[in-house]
Amino acid sequence: MRVLQVTAEIYPLLKTGGLADVAGALPQALAAAGCDVRALLPGFPAICAGLKDAQALSEFATPWGETIRVLYGTLPQVACGPAGLPAYVLEAPGLYERPGNPYEDAQRRPYADNHRRFAALGWAAARLALGLDPAWSPDIVHGHDWHAGLAPACLRALAPTTGAGVGTIHTVHNLAYQGLFAPQHFGEFGLPPVFFGIDGLEFHGQVSFMKAGLAFADRITTVSPTYAREIQTPEQGFGLDGLLRARAGVLTGILNGVDPAVWNPATDPEIALTFDARRPAGKSVCKAALQTECDLELRPDLPLFAVVSRLTEQKGLPLVLAALDGITASGGQLLVLGTGERELEDAFLREAKAHAGQVAVRLEYDEALAHRIFAGSDVTLVPSRFEPCGLTQMYGLRYGSLPLVRAVGGLADSVVDTDLATLEDQTATGFAFGPFSEAAYRHTLRRAFALYRRRTTWARVRQVGMRRSFSWDEAATHYLDLYRSLVPQ
Ligand code: ADP
Ligand code: GLC
Repeated sequence: MRVLQVTAEIYPLLKTGGLADVAGALPQALAAAGCDVRALLPGFPAICAGLKDAQALSEFATPWGETIRVLYGTLPQVACGPAGLPAYVLEAPGLYERPGNPYEDAQRRPYADNHRRFAALGWAAARLALGLDPAWSPDIVHGHDWHAGLAPACLRALAPTTGAGVGTIHTVHNLAYQGLFAPQHFGEFGLPPVFFGIDGLEFHGQVSFMKAGLAFADRITTVSPTYAREIQTPEQGFGLDGLLRARAGVLTGILNGVDPAVWNPATDPEIALTFDARRPAGKSVCKAALQTECDLELRPDLPLFAVVSRLTEQKGLPLVLAALDGITASGGQLLVLGTGERELEDAFLREAKAHAGQVAVRLEYDEALAHRIFAGSDVTLVPSRFEPCGLTQMYGLRYGSLPLVRAVGGLADSVVDTDLATLEDQTATGFAFGPFSEAAYRHTLRRAFALYRRRTTWARVRQVGMRRSFSWDEAATHYLDLYRSLVPQ
């Protein structure tokens, strides 16, 4: 089974969020399951710099008249087989050669030509499906998020009845980001005019790349079973719930996994002392090291709550701010690592100043510090408004930092709330609350403090969580079943 993964980010080369972690780990699991996987990526500087043995494979003209070279090489940093992940990279310096965030400029404004930057990705995927590389062509084109949304539409335009015999999958990592563009750009995409309709890319008068993926792909997946149900409701459908309900028969949710080569406290080179479920003693060394590193009081006896997150509306952080006294007045500590919306950044900074030694904030993106935070903290806070999957609660679980989450999306699918029943049957792994309200969140904080005081029980819950593997192999099996349903062997 030959599979082309189409993605804008990939760990460890370029990452703005969980999409990159998935794009880096899924090919390894698919390859281990016997798939012949390659990736297709835009030629952002970090991607080009990581591409080894690059050779010019071919070139194609975009509908707006730009010529794009397709390079072929290997990404040795992605541990896929002995050599790394084979990859096609679009060489178009005019579109992609901009340092920093792949989607927006230094002032956090989306690039004005994003519609072309990612239409090129869709066209390249379709051309590869139709034999642009004489040596390899995919059975399956698997696109991720709106950046790859145009791929199934482009393929349908080039091979209207047969789709060239190539199956298409569109995976939604976050429906909140849709890739919406002004309608006058539609003419630049080279798609049949009929595609700009209610059954195609048109979304309230605009062009939607996400909708292109949802409308034209053979199968739709999202990154947890609960989110697959939620996006079919008006509350969480971002205006696309009608289409998703209509396509419910081809929509499934597959929970993301954790890459054990990257997120494993038993082998992690970034943390002060390694540990695991059977020998958790190193965790207290990690906690002390983290408190020292982040200017928190050295208190082994008090619970340390942590946030590692994009600071955006999605992540429910106003709850953390509004109920901060629910942590500080009970003697807990809070450590925040994140970047994002200015108001949230400022608010957390103010709290850190007001509670020096008890609240610390790092407004930066620091992969290694993220590892040390999961290893050194006691609780990972993820009180999201919505959460397609969420990876930090899984990293928290693996590193013995009990997740405290809102029970939505993938958070509901990966954390088992602690109550008398789940304690008795030893399935409890963290804390979950339902309504998005300060009262519900505060009450859950109190439950966390209460459990923390029962040290033996806390240690038992922590151990159960650390043993959850969140294996990518399991997710890969589900993806493989989907691929097989499209490509009869
Ligand atoms: P999302 O993709 O919505 O941002 P996820 O929980 O799926 O949420 O993934 C977030 C990823 O980004 C995790 O790997 C997390 O550790 C990482 N991350 C988020 N913010 C930071 C930060 N400031 N520094 C380092 N890593 C971060
Ligand atoms: C998105 C979602 C997040 C998910 C990640 C990887 O960024 O916001 O919930 O874990 O994609 O699938």
